[in-house]
Amino acid sequence: MSEHVERRARIAIVGAGWWSTQAHLPSLLAYPHAEVVGIADLNIDKARAAGAAYGIERLYTDYRRMLDAEKPDGVIVATNHLAHFDVARDAITRGMGVLVEKPMVQRAVEARELQRLAEQQGAPLMIGYPWHFTPQHQQLRDIIAAGRIGKLQMVSTLYASMVIEFLRGKPQAYQSIFNYPVTGPTASSYSDPRIAGGGQGALQVTHAAALLLLLTGLKPVSVSAFMERHDLQVDLCDAITVRFDNDAIGTIASTGNIAAIHTDNQRLDYRLFGTEGYAMLEVLDGTASTYTNDGKVERLDPTPPDRRYPAETTSRHLVDLLLGRVTVNQSPAVIGVRTVELLEAAYRSATEGRVIRVDEL
Ligand SMILES: NC(=O)c1ccc[n+]([C@@H]2O[C@H](COP(=O)([O-])OP(=O)(O)OC[C@H]3O[C@@H](n4cnc5c(N)ncnc54)[C@H](O)[C@@H]3O)[C@@H](O)[C@H]2O)c1
Repeated sequence: MSEHVERRARIAIVGAGWWSTQAHLPSLLAYPHAEVVGIADLNIDKARAAGAAYGIERLYTDYRRMLDAEKPDGVIVATNHLAHFDVARDAITRGMGVLVEKPMVQRAVEARELQRLAEQQGAPLMIGYPWHFTPQHQQLRDIIAAGRIGKLQMVSTLYASMVIEFLRGKPQAYQSIFNYPVTGPTASSYSDPRIAGGGQGALQVTHAAALLLLLTGLKPVSVSAFMERHDLQVDLCDAITVRFDNDAIGTIASTGNIAAIHTDNQRLDYRLFGTEGYAMLEVLDGTASTYTNDGKVERLDPTPPDRRYPAETTSRHLVDLLLGRVTVNQSPAVIGVRTVELLEAAYRSATEGRVIRVDEL
């Protein structure tokens, strides 16, 4: 038994920017089941700064060289959005497990390709959505899957967050809030559509949509959306309407324009209505309840304030999957694929001014 328990998963990191240095590196270094074997970044200064801060010596500019030299068990893809596909594909085809940050990729065809390759290799593929690991959310998902609120008919999601300065290319505006331990995001990472692929949708709606799809098990079938950039180069406000399988319909409304002055600088609220009752989830308040048609109200155990964004969970879950410490992937590729389908359809709908069917993508 001891060999299995003591083996550490060897993890390599691609992209040594803000999120790797804020979340993944500290999480893995404090996790006894993991070992970080190398860091790659196109910008060697970023790799050096991350390596110096966290004591990692094997640094690369070419991630493929790192994968071939270090032969890690798992790879964390925390590059700019448009680089996710190539890096994830190259790791998966080498048989490595992959945690790809959100948004998984830009296009449904790419997402399906990664899912297919990972299944072919039998290697875990997961997406960087910390809210999928909140026990209360998993409980609510199970309640819905058990049919306690019946067949879902209408779902509504509101996500308002404080990211406008990222979308404007001014990440230093949030220095005092995030206390970037090594570096903040590169200015262009979230503001330049050629690098980010999109704004609020790519950066934030991806979280809200993925959690909606995880909670409900719904599959998007067709999408209609309006998006506004205001004075930015990328979308700031998104209003998305979705028809799901199973005759359910719903909306996702989102803005990145919450001011930093508020401590409550995010809202993510779900209202999920079924034939036998409804559920309410206020993610940033840590509260969730179900109201069933027999008159019962159930309040789920609240999520404590310090567990409302469990950023350390995703990298550790990759480790646990690789070592067989867990067998169920809590942030699986299938949800990543459906989220990409929903978002690609939303962006296309906003651009083309028509309803986009997922089977067109
Ligand atoms: N899950 C979350 O809550 C969360 C939070 C923040 C960021 N993220 C995600 O993490 C990823 C990274 O974001 P960030 O804020 O750290 O951005 P960043 O700009 O700070 O870092 C990205 C790094 O990737 C590097 N890079 C780009 N292409 C590369 C390639 N082909 N090979 C090697 N390095 C490459 C860049 O040089 C840069 O240093 C994004 O996908 C972002 O959406 C997730």
